[in-house]
Amino acid sequence: MLIEKVYFAIDMSQSIVLFGPPGAGKGTQADAIVEATGKPQVSTGDMLRAALAAGTTLGLEAKKYMEAGELVPDDIIIGLIEERMQQDDASEGVLFDGFPRTIPQAEALAEIAEVSLVISIEVPDDAIVGRIVGRRMDPDTGDIYHVTFKPAPAEIAARLIQRKDDNEEAVRTRLTAYHNQTSPLAKWYEEKGLLATVNGNQAMADVGAEISAVLN
Ligand code: AP5
Repeated sequence: MLIEKVYFAIDMSQSIVLFGPPGAGKGTQADAIVEATGKPQVSTGDMLRAALAAGTTLGLEAKKYMEAGELVPDDIIIGLIEERMQQDDASEGVLFDGFPRTIPQAEALAEIAEVSLVISIEVPDDAIVGRIVGRRMDPDTGDIYHVTFKPAPAEIAARLIQRKDDNEEAVRTRLTAYHNQTSPLAKWYEEKGLLATVNGNQAMADVGAEISAVLN
């Protein structure tokens, strides 16, 4: 594997952003980054799903956007992040997964926390739909599987669930939202010298190796 050597001044007391289209493998790669950096994962998607499962007002407000594959309004997301960043474990920076997703979110983040690195996992649209529609999650552990690319062990197969927004129609809307509202952020962070891109269209272990190379 040929890795172009680009050096980033990563301040390990600051936050890292994991960036990419739906199904790029952000959640899949997050565990190894958490282990390597000691930073807690802050996934806005997971936070919204937890709020929905708990039946909070915020969760119920977010539900219609999430199930349609649209972005939840910025003020809701920014409020969630402001609250999360007050917690003790965020003091040495966090790993943002799925946040920020719009320029206003990135501008708000710049006021809340320092970001030293944005890892962009690049995957073409034609690989995304199959990944998302085949994704299954373990509700007990949060582990992510795929019916073809990462089958779950037989003993847990019966309890796996499929996210409500993991259907072809919602994925197409999510991809449109990504291209219209989120992808401009790559240039925004590139201009700040913070963007590292990795090829997400290869085996999971090879994506992980590219991310390790960036972190090291
Ligand atoms: P969120 O939960 O963040 O979903 P997403 O960004 O659409 O990302 P995914 O979780 O679908 O994908 P992923 O990149 O984590 O991929 P994964 O590793 O699981 O957001 C959901 C919704 O919440 C949004 O649509 C929006 O409504 C709302 N929301 C959240 N944050 C928001 C924000 N900041 N602002 C506004 N709204 C917000 O992998 C996918 C599948 O592919 C898995 O099955 C996996 O096993 C497989 N896979 C992974 N890597 C590979 C590989 N290399 N090869 C083959 N298969 C692979």
